[in-house]
Amino acid sequence: MLRFDLTTKAHAPLMAALHAVSFETAWSEESFRTFLDLPTTVGFINEAGFILCTVVADEAEILTLCVHPDCRRQGIATALLQKMEAYLKERHVSRFFLDVRASNLPAIGLYTRNGFTQMNRRVAYYETENGREDALVLKKEL
Ligand SMILES: CC(C)(COP(=O)(O)OP(=O)(O)OC[C@H]1O[C@@H](n2cnc3c(N)ncnc32)[C@H](O)[C@@H]1OP(=O)(O)O)[C@@H](O)C(=O)NCCC(=O)NCCS
Repeated sequence: MLRFDLTTKAHAPLMAALHAVSFETAWSEESFRTFLDLPTTVGFINEAGFILCTVVADEAEILTLCVHPDCRRQGIATALLQKMEAYLKERHVSRFFLDVRASNLPAIGLYTRNGFTQMNRRVAYYETENGREDALVLKKEL
C-alpha cells in the first residue's frame, strides 16, 4: 500500500519540483508556502506525487494534483485521491470539486474512473500558449 504524509511547509520545495515537471506553468515554492499557511489547505504527498485541496465547510476543491512523469500509470494519483477522500469523509465533507483543462485527457480519465462527473464547462477559462481553453468543472458526492 502506498504511503503519503500530510503536507507541511517543509514540503514546499518537493511540491514545486513535482509541479514544475508536470505543468506548463510552474508554481513557486513561495506560492506553495502561502497555500500551506492557510488553515483551509490540506494535502498529501510522497516522493512521487501530491494532492493539494482547499476545504471549506462541507466542500473541498482540488487546487492541484500531479505525479512525476517517471511514476505515472502506477495508480499513485488514484491512491492520492482515495487518501484525500477518506480524510474528507471523516470530516463530513460531502462535495468534492475540481477544474480541469478540456484537453487534459489523462486527468479527465483519472477523475472519471474515480467517480467524478462533469457539472459545468467554463468557456475560454484558461489562457494557454495556443489561445484560450475551456475548463471542465467536475464533482463527486462523497
Ligand atoms: C493526471 C495524472 C495526475 C495521473 O497520475 P497517475 O498516477 O498516472 O494516474 P493513475 O496511475 O492513478 O491512473 C488512473 C487511471 O487514470 C487514467 N489515466 C491516467 N493517465 C492517463 C493517460 N495518460 N491517458 C489516458 N488515461 C489515463 C486511466 O484510466 C488510469 O487507469 P489505468 O492506468 O489502469 O488505465 C498525471 O498524468 C499527471 O501528473 N499529469 C500532469 C498534471 C495534471 O494534469 N494534473 C491534473 C490537473 S487537474
